[in-house]
Formats: sequence, C-alpha cells, structure tokens
Amino acid sequence: MTPLLAVHGLCAAYRSLAVLSDVSIEVPHGGITTLLGANGAGKTTLLRAISNVLVRTTGEIIFDGKRIDGQPCDAIARAGIAHVPDGRGTFSQLTVEENLCLGAISRRDRRAWQRDMARMYEYFPRLHAYRRKPAGLMSGGEQQMLAIARALMLSPRLLMLDEPSFGLAPMVVRQIFDILRQINRERQLGVLLVEQNASLALELANNAYVMEAGRVTISGTASDLRGDERVRRAYLGHPEETTHA
Ligand SMILES: Nc1ncnc2c1ncn2[C@@H]1O[C@H](COP(=O)(O)OP(=O)(O)OP(=O)(O)O)[C@@H](O)[C@H]1O
Ligand SMILES: [Mg+2]
Repeated sequence: MTPLLAVHGLCAAYRSLAVLSDVSIEVPHGGITTLLGANGAGKTTLLRAISNVLVRTTGEIIFDGKRIDGQPCDAIARAGIAHVPDGRGTFSQLTVEENLCLGAISRRDRRAWQRDMARMYEYFPRLHAYRRKPAGLMSGGEQQMLAIARALMLSPRLLMLDEPSFGLAPMVVRQIFDILRQINRERQLGVLLVEQNASLALELANNAYVMEAGRVTISGTASDLRGDERVRRAYLGHPEETTHA
C-alpha cells in the first residue's frame, strides 16, 4: 500500500544556508511516525519543507499518491496536512472558539465543522471551559491542546506536530499523548511527530527516524529503535549512566 506521505531525496535551504540533504521518510496511512534528533538537526525544517513555509526545497513530497512539493502552503493544508508549529501558533488575544474557527476557515461544510468543534470539546474539556475567553489566559498545556484541536479542525489526514511536549509538566504531556493516541485510532489519522522526549515518542509511534545534521541516519520500527544501542545512548539515556548520574 502506498504511504500517506512519502518524502524522497529532499533538500531544503534557508536562503543560502543548506539544512536538509537527501532526506527520505514515509508516514503510513493511519500510522504514527516520530522524528528524533538533537537540537539543530533539521526536524523543524523538515516539517516546514513539507508544509512549504520559509524554506526552499528540491526533491519529491508525495501526499496520498500526489506530488505536493512546490504547491503553496494553503493548498497543502487544504489537501489534508495540518501543521502544529513549534511555539504552537495560536492567537492569545482571540478566544478559544475563535481560534478553533480559524482552524476550519478553509472548510465549507459548516455543519460538519460545528460537529467537529463539539468533538474537540469532548477530547479537551478544558477548552470548553475557556471557549469564550482569550486563549492567552490558559496554561501552556491547555494552549498546546488548543493548537492541536485547531489543527484537527481542518479535518486533516496527516497531523504534523513540532515538539508538543516542550515546556510542559510530565503529567500534562502524558495526557496530551493519550489523547493523540485516541484520535489517531478513532480517525485513522496519520501523525508525524517531532519530539525531544524520545522514550515517550517511541512508545506512541509505530516507526521512527533519527536525524543528524540534516540527514536521516537511523530508521526503523519504534521497537527497533528502542533496542538500538546508538539510540539508547544518545536519546534514551543509558540505564547505568542514569543511575550513577
Ligand atoms: N529561519 C531560519 N533561518 C535560517 N536558518 C535557520 C532558520 N531556522 C532554522 N535554521 C537553521 O537550520 C538548522 C536546523 O534547524 P531546525 O530548527 O530545523 O532544527 P531542529 O532539529 O528543529 O532543532 P530543535 O531541536 O532545536 O528544534 C539550524 O542550523 C538552524 O540554525
Ligand atoms: Mg525544532
């Protein structure tokens, strides 16, 4: 079966600064793929390249069997790719409900998106409590939930998340990851997750890639990577090292 997303031989640059070279990754239909790597490895740039924001790219990006590279970012979003950027990108002055409406702005099926909004409040009850209040009043974790809910309002087939756990307490991160797992199952939603918390990401994901200096250096199933000595050393922490630390 063809994957939901296939990236082949992708190179990407900011003006004259080349960042990604020859990157190839796949996200299966309804699967969760995670992207690990140190700071500056190029993870955010890869998501930007897929969404076609800020970077110039060469190579192929195929979504659901169709080439999308070179298309404007709004067309890519309409094709079904929702991107929750690092730093979330929600509007703190707007209410929660207004933020959710913005997520659905390109949709014409008003009835269906109103149903979806009600569904978001079921997934994230805190958002319902704050629906008429400015989003900026909520905690960091609640704002991350809003960013995810807003992206889901696009009714995407692929959800790309850039470090959703950043700066959040472990319990909140756990809550968000549980909801992501539930949504992935219920909606057969493909997920491409960039995450610093490698152990949590490998627990959630089906397959994974490690990036170093703009290239993919390790790939496999999540359980392969959990057992890979290089991954254990660099991203999961060695049991011996952590006990003696
Ligand atoms: N807007 C930009 N303009 C120029 N260079 C950039 C820009 N954004 C990122 N870079 C550079 O591109 C390289 C890859 O950065 P990127 O943000 O993709 O890494 P990352 O893997 O997401 O790192 P982190 O884990 O810190 O988020 C870095 O050298 C960074 O300095
Ligand atoms: Mg990043």
